[in-house]
Amino acid sequence: MIRKRPIIAIDGPVGAGKSVAARELARALGFSYLNTGAMYRAVAIAAREAGISPDDPNVEERLASVLKGIKIKFDGEKILLNGRDVTAMKDDPEIGELASRFSAIGSVRMRMRDLQRAAGADGGVVMEGRDIGTAIFPDAEFKFFLDADVKTRAHRRYEELKKKGASITEDEVLEQLVERDRRDSGRELAPLKRADDATVIDSTNLSIDAVVAAMKAKINDRNNAGKDLKRA
Ligand code: DC
Repeated sequence: MIRKRPIIAIDGPVGAGKSVAARELARALGFSYLNTGAMYRAVAIAAREAGISPDDPNVEERLASVLKGIKIKFDGEKILLNGRDVTAMKDDPEIGELASRFSAIGSVRMRMRDLQRAAGADGGVVMEGRDIGTAIFPDAEFKFFLDADVKTRAHRRYEELKKKGASITEDEVLEQLVERDRRDSGRELAPLKRADDATVIDSTNLSIDAVVAAMKAKINDRNNAGKDLKRA
């Protein structure tokens, strides 16, 4: 497929810095930004409100009506689920955990895949998640896999949660993060995995600015004709 402007896929585990880097890169390039993890979180919120557990033996059947009409919209930093602002709930660690569990379910992944492909079809987008470069847009023009040492990731996540007033210890954050990585990488459908052609960036000792600079350098490098992505 020929796209006028590229798709930039950024995948990686929790706490590697994907969201901040993706948002900043999108801003710098004048691209749109899609946080696919937030979409799975919105599904988790909708399912929880409908009283559906990921362990329900009829989970797919019960989820069908939730998924069918689901509307997930972004308005700057805000996330709207069926027109309602759910931004405050989105970062709840319990929602992250539920999102990870619902994201292993086939019908959820299929629905998100369709929405994500529709959102990115025209290119000019930085999309971040777990499976963007492997399953959603395997033909993305640029793919990055952002990773970092597990303790560093847990520390970052802990600092973020502390700022938001969560009462959780760093050890608990580490434990949850290891479990989420295990589940996201071990699931059968579109597991968290580096695409063979993705550029790996280890952010353990890098600032966000340095991560974004490394991504921009790679993009400019490949844009060998010197074409300015902003105007392409
Ligand atoms: O990026 P995040 O932590 O907000 O994502 C929440 C969960 O959603 C994550 O643990 C796994 C799932 N997810 C996914 O399966 N595929 C994506 N592309 C993005 C997120």
